[in-house]
Amino acid sequence: MNHLLSIKDLSQEQLKDLLALAKKIKANPAEYRNALDGKSVVMLFEKPSLRTRVSFDIGINKLGGHCLYLDQQNGALGKREPVSDFAANISCWADAIVARTFLHSTIEGLAEHGSVPVINALSDLYHPCQGLADFLTLSEKFDDVSKVKLAYVGDGNNVTHSLMYGAAILGATMTVICPPGQFPDGQVVVEAQSLAAQHGGKLILTSDIEEIAQQDAIYTDTWISMGDDSNLSDIEAKFKPYQVNAAMMKKAGANFFMHCLPAYRGVEVTADVVDGEGSLILQQAENRMHAQNAVLVTLLAK
Ligand code: CP
Ligand code: NVA
Repeated sequence: MNHLLSIKDLSQEQLKDLLALAKKIKANPAEYRNALDGKSVVMLFEKPSLRTRVSFDIGINKLGGHCLYLDQQNGALGKREPVSDFAANISCWADAIVARTFLHSTIEGLAEHGSVPVINALSDLYHPCQGLADFLTLSEKFDDVSKVKLAYVGDGNNVTHSLMYGAAILGATMTVICPPGQFPDGQVVVEAQSLAAQHGGKLILTSDIEEIAQQDAIYTDTWISMGDDSNLSDIEAKFKPYQVNAAMMKKAGANFFMHCLPAYRGVEVTADVVDGEGSLILQQAENRMHAQNAVLVTLLAK
């Protein structure tokens, strides 16, 4: 493993190892206090962030490393100087790059032209760190993640893509329910279907919300991702039947609700569900740090 650009690049063994290491770091943080001793990580963010930025910064600190946050004071990456020069220069000083970008190709460019590991902190196509934290969370609730039935309801987006790859590689069953026209990327679907077949998983895609039966957890995300200029009033009617509410949770028999956050109460999910007893949102948020620290230790503490 040289980078973390997408969960699809991980073998089942690598994914399971990352989850196991995240659990170890979470349980015994003192053992990893010097894991990144002398290492510096540059964080480049083209988009806003709360969880990703803070959990990387504090997580790197807990591992004894140093991190430097660069916002886009110079505009989008690649504007003032090419992404290739950016990557080559940062590689002169830093030991790793964490990047949140609009275009996934920007992250690929950083990995191609830099000489240090690159971690995708969200692009238009994937959110692998989120996916890792989510499967860590599920593995804390269920002994055997391959038996988990996860439904994703709402907009097929970067988070959906990473969840689909993760579920497929782990051999779990995932049902993706989206309004017509809001399905995940076609190529991602094909790749995830093939990974699911390879690992004994099952990936179901439908627009029919009636197919929600028998789930362990229901996951949703914002209907309008960063960089999407849709107005809620224009899309609300199409998405409304896909709002996660108490009736949907009951119909699915789902004990757990998941969301990467930020959540829009009364939009993609009702407040009683997102703030309710079965909501895993804070466990997911906490696990961002542990999952990312496992990635950092795997990539850097060699
Ligand atoms: N879930 C997540 O990535 O949150 P932020 O956008 O706040 O980092
Ligand atoms: N799909 C969302 C995730 C935010 C963490 C977005 O890309 O804005």
